[in-house]
Amino acid sequence: QQTALSGAVIGKGNYRHFMMKEIAEQPAVIGKTLQVFLDPNKRRIKLPAMPLDFAKLDRLTITACGTAYLAGFVAKYWFEQIARLPVEIDVASEFRYRNTPLPANGATLVISQSGETADTLAALRYAKAQGNEIVAILNVLESSIGREADIVLPILAGPEIGVASTKAFTAQLTVLAALVLAAAKARQVIDLRHEVELYNALVSLPGKVAEVLDNDDHLQKVAAEISKARTVLFLGRGSAYPLALEGALKLKEITYIHAEGYAAGEMKHGPIALIDGNVPVVILAPHDNLFEKTTSNLQEVHARGGRIILISDAEGIARAGHGATHALELPQVDPFVAPILYAVPLQLLAYYAAVAKGTDIDQPRNLAKSVTVE
Ligand code: G6P
Repeated sequence: QQTALSGAVIGKGNYRHFMMKEIAEQPAVIGKTLQVFLDPNKRRIKLPAMPLDFAKLDRLTITACGTAYLAGFVAKYWFEQIARLPVEIDVASEFRYRNTPLPANGATLVISQSGETADTLAALRYAKAQGNEIVAILNVLESSIGREADIVLPILAGPEIGVASTKAFTAQLTVLAALVLAAAKARQVIDLRHEVELYNALVSLPGKVAEVLDNDDHLQKVAAEISKARTVLFLGRGSAYPLALEGALKLKEITYIHAEGYAAGEMKHGPIALIDGNVPVVILAPHDNLFEKTTSNLQEVHARGGRIILISDAEGIARAGHGATHALELPQVDPFVAPILYAVPLQLLAYYAAVAKGTDIDQPRNLAKSVTVE
């Protein structure tokens, strides 16, 4: 089966589904996207000329829908922690009607794979009418948002056919990471040593994502278990919190299993009531400064008989894995780029659970690739 897109015919190659083909393309896509934004000779960031000065911004506004919104939500953590730039973020369907005042001479960042999402386009127009400079991160450059933005930063994901976004998400995060480093430099809040460290972390990503893709046997077994669940919880802290939301979104979209993403620290305020031996709880615990806090939530789930799927690196699993039913080991990475790497097992869990359920993975019921109506 093939799909025609803008006259070009795109096939699935040796894959059963476009979604798996697109998941597998990620090492190449991240590598290609990095080539545009990194200067390997200087080991520094290289951005196109921007009509906006990050040094002069008091706040950045980000708006988008669906998975693109969650990429922006990860970037909020990065901009605030690394570039010391406060970020206001909202889904476009709320943002556009909130009538929120935007800072004079401010900037709004919109993120969209298709460039055609109606609410994101309307949010862009609202911000523009308020005098904001519009930066758009897009996959489809010849698009409505592409035409109306002041500057477009491309992701080089290539056509994404699967309705559930995968490679566009990690490519959006890659561009956002480069933008964050550029903002940190402009605001003079990062020294050269730290910049090179984060640069190296980005450059290491394609190889590490490939490692995850090459070692998914255990993950497939875990996904088969998840496919039998009625509800699945995803927990994370810091930049792993938006990722928990994305893990839940992916699972809902293609398996139709109810899933919720939660900030791990909020679990006590409600979702803990759901926990019993039948509810798998996926805990995202990259080895960062919040690791101990996240794993104390793991213990709380364990004490209530919950079925824990811990996603961490070897050291994290050695330290906290005893309470887990399953531990999925990822390569060790700098916490900065963990959201990009940790997205991949979440995509694979959803994919293999959907294969086990036999759902229509590339065209899930009721969903559209691009939502051009309000
Ligand atoms: C739809 C798609 C999602 C996507 C969202 C935003 O809901 O099914 O995968 O994340 O729209 O789309 P955009 O093209 O603006 O990124």
